Amino acid sequence: MRRSRWAALIAVIVALVAVGATYAALNATSKASAAPAEGATSAQIDEGRKLFLEGCSSCHGLNAEGIDGATVNNGGNGGPSLIGVGSASVHFQVSTGRMPLAGPEAQAPTKKVQYNEEEIAALAAYIASLAPGPASPSEEELDFSNASVAEGGELFRTNCSQCHNFSGRGGALSDGAYAPSLMQATPQQIYEAMVTGPQQMPVFSNETLTVEDKQAILAYIDDVKNAPNPGGQDLGALGPVTEGLFTFIVGIVLFIAVAVWIGAKVR
Ligand code: HEC
Ligand code: HEC
Repeated sequence: MRRSRWAALIAVIVALVAVGATYAALNATSKASAAPAEGATSAQIDEGRKLFLEGCSSCHGLNAEGIDGATVNNGGNGGPSLIGVGSASVHFQVSTGRMPLAGPEAQAPTKKVQYNEEEIAALAAYIASLAPGPASPSEEELDFSNASVAEGGELFRTNCSQCHNFSGRGGALSDGAYAPSLMQATPQQIYEAMVTGPQQMPVFSNETLTVEDKQAILAYIDDVKNAPNPGGQDLGALGPVTEGLFTFIVGIVLFIAVAVWIGAKVR
């Protein structure tokens, strides 16, 4: 009798550890991020120009000089000049699905991405070839493996949380605008958002936030993103007290259930 009780308990523990290990392994494989190669070829720039003329020039002008929506007869679809916005802005806008914009809207929503990474790199290379601007971050700039999560949390609370919420899950701004959740953004997109400052978001130049500061913020967001949510339910990060209590109750209930189950088996 004694032995089967221990066997059941060990089986439960082994199962729990196995679930945890599988989860960790799955999480680790989905973290890889691809940084674009800088140093565009002329073939890539030509390809980018072709894609731009087909998909972007109706709003941004044939030479990316911008179109004033009020002055043209294309349904009020204007777009700003892209001269000097740099590859970072193009990659950010297109890879999050904000561009191409479907129509005149207050804020470009994230949608299904319409171009693959190669095409986005070509578009970015074309725009970057027109005038210098903030470039997409390099592999080294994106490497946050040595950055401090605690420091990143501090920087995040000072610079980002007033709009994106303490845990990066987004929030409403005035005028019907919103700061989106950061949980879907890749490290590259987060870095690019900081250097380009889309819409109401300020630009965080390297004077405001050094490359190391940006890496710490990446590390912090990555940490929040990968923090396990016990019980499989996202509580919207209501805070340590609520979540702690929830975990505590679920844990107690689980232990009671296991105890009852083992007890029943023994009898
Ligand atoms: C229907 C019109 C429309 C189309 C098509 C469109 N855009 Fe835009 N684009 C806009 C408007 C309007 C804005 C400014 C609003 C905003 O920033 O959300 C903008 C902003 C941008 C920005 C940000 C500029 C900055 O200051 O950083 C980039 C980059 C961009 N577009 C690239 C593209 C690319 C590349 C394409 C083609 C794949 C494209 N757009 C297609 C209308 C359009
Ligand atoms: C003043 C408010 C404000 C602050 C401060 C701010 N942001 Fe933003 N952020 C925004 C808004 C608004 C958008 C949406 C822009 C758009 O849709 O074009 C945004 C978009 C983003 C996105 C794109 C998310 C996605 O998946 O589409 C990222 C990433 C981001 N911000 C990161 C940051 C980080 C990191 C900081 C701090 C260093 C920060 N933001 C500070 C307002 C803010």
